[in-house]
Amino acid sequence: MSKVYDILPDAAARALINNDQYLEMYARSVNDPEGFWAEQAEKFVTWFKKWDKVQDNDYFEGRIRWFEGAKVNVSYNCLDRHLETRGDQTAIIWEGDSPDEAKHITYRQLHEEVSRLANALKNLGVKRGDRVCIYLPMIPEAAASMLACTRIGAIHSVVFGGFSPDALRDRIQDSDCQVVITSDESMRGGRRVPLKANVDKALESCPNVRTSIVVKRTGGNVAWKEGRDVWYHEQLAAASPDCPAEEMDAEDPLFTLYTSGSTGKPKGVLHSTGGYLLFTAMTHKYIFDYHDGDVYWCTADVGWVTGHSYIVYGPLANGATTLMFEGVPTYPDAGRFWQVVDKHQVNIFYTAPTAIRSLMGQGEELVKKTSRSSLRLLGSVGEPINPEAWEWYYNVVGEGRCPIVDTWWQTETGGILITPLPGATKLKPGSATRPFFGVVPALVSNEGEVLEGATEGNLVITRAWPSQMRTIYGDHQRFIDTYLKTYPGTYFTGDGARRDEDGYYWITGRVDDVINVSGHRMGTAEVESALVLHESVAEAAVVGYPHDIKGQGIYAYVTLMVGVEPSEALRKELVQLVRKEIGPIASPDVIQWAPGLPKTRSGKIMRRILRKIAANEIDALGDTSTLADPTVVQDLIENRAVK
Ligand code: WTA
Repeated sequence: MSKVYDILPDAAARALINNDQYLEMYARSVNDPEGFWAEQAEKFVTWFKKWDKVQDNDYFEGRIRWFEGAKVNVSYNCLDRHLETRGDQTAIIWEGDSPDEAKHITYRQLHEEVSRLANALKNLGVKRGDRVCIYLPMIPEAAASMLACTRIGAIHSVVFGGFSPDALRDRIQDSDCQVVITSDESMRGGRRVPLKANVDKALESCPNVRTSIVVKRTGGNVAWKEGRDVWYHEQLAAASPDCPAEEMDAEDPLFTLYTSGSTGKPKGVLHSTGGYLLFTAMTHKYIFDYHDGDVYWCTADVGWVTGHSYIVYGPLANGATTLMFEGVPTYPDAGRFWQVVDKHQVNIFYTAPTAIRSLMGQGEELVKKTSRSSLRLLGSVGEPINPEAWEWYYNVVGEGRCPIVDTWWQTETGGILITPLPGATKLKPGSATRPFFGVVPALVSNEGEVLEGATEGNLVITRAWPSQMRTIYGDHQRFIDTYLKTYPGTYFTGDGARRDEDGYYWITGRVDDVINVSGHRMGTAEVESALVLHESVAEAAVVGYPHDIKGQGIYAYVTLMVGVEPSEALRKELVQLVRKEIGPIASPDVIQWAPGLPKTRSGKIMRRILRKIAANEIDALGDTSTLADPTVVQDLIENRAVK
């Protein structure tokens, strides 16, 4: 039996939703989805024109549509409609990499910046439906750029600033962006990162990009290409502050965001306008129990979906004060998070288990040196949180006063699908607990049989929800094949889960070839493709293995070309190669030289065996008799990295 934490009385007293309300609203959301969603859509979103139809979804045909016929604009909902009531309220608190740098931006200021930038984009020829790549650090200009795109109906594609020029190039090419917004450099942990230089490199192979708009962040030296490069501040100064928001169709595309899958290159997950806006606003309000005036901080990067939905869109749609942090949790020291909480009187704090585990390793002192008395609610996202980290977060960081919402979701889901609500849900450390409104999860066996009661299986969602991805940019068939074909009639998440006797869900991790390194999603195939580019490498197989801090580490088995001797220098070259192809987040933690890989007689690599060896679970290798050459396993076991 796992430990159960009762609903905290203070949380219950102020909560927007208690358990009876949760049960009642959940029942309504599944029994009368049309009525339920229409009501929520009225409540959370300002529409220029109402919809003709609430939903039109068919998983067999790959059709997902919400609020068709409606007209709406995301930037209008995040800015304009707040001006009258909260124009002078802080929209974004920005905390710089250095503790000496911070600023507050009001809704009115943000509205003006976004309007000017939107006009600047228009002046540069960006039209409705065009794609704009955003490759920026965690500075307010990132949020402004996203909102400016939505204001004129351009589709943004934010690329995480930690990705290499090659990875950036692939993403720009895939969605055919013609404009890139970047900065001269970014600051991380006191070091400068050459963002513009990365863009310059990427653009060597992106002839369709005609403009790059450059934010001056550090004032560092940058190369300049006349006719292509323009300064952000100069463009803004020259543009009019008056830019009415474009009336978009509810199903118009809002953004693409690249994410890794089991096979091939990262795919451009496409989200659309009305449903996404509604679902991110609603989840943000109910799950974080957001009340007017609260200071809310999500530590993610805007380069990931968490930053899209829960730094920018959900909070701003709700008129919240959202904190954006440029730096890293360990700079100047590992107490930074808690110092920032005190400095800005943060009430709601949302981070990833990997950060909690690494800070936990630094001891309690740095936490206890701070007050944290403003904190009221804690959140976790991105990977399963182990109960030890959960307890530390709850007891040390939150001093037992703050509920933890362990929120399960994905780039593809747009918003949180399984989560506690602070005033409604008893907590169990390590469990994401119950589905959000309108979300109907199920567990299925590998054969697709629906499993009932307390059990474990593959996690699917049986009904569409408003912020579900609509397609993979430029490849609708791949969308259908990846998500809707595995267990026909359902959306397959790629995760495994257990459901306990109380109906609580416990996410057990990916069941496909996606690994989760420090909350960053990585396709093993991507890392393999990078490794085999090296002339000395014949073959590579990459798996995840348990890592104390990162959750999973990257373990690469590499077979060299005949005649090539393994060496430390070669190992370094391979790590460098992966960093160049993808970025530092994909660096293999372990490279094991593998004279042979375990393959079936038909030539398929048996990853199950490689995962067990990497995890040092030698006793659980299972049946190896079907291998073409069972002797390779012995060598791999003897030379394994973790013993
Ligand atoms: C994992 C991040 C357990 C999961 C929002 C999912 C989680 C993948 C949780 C999506 C959680 C996310 N508990 N696992 N609370 N949240 N995951 O697309 O494996 O970067 O499929 O979206 O992260 O990662 P993505």
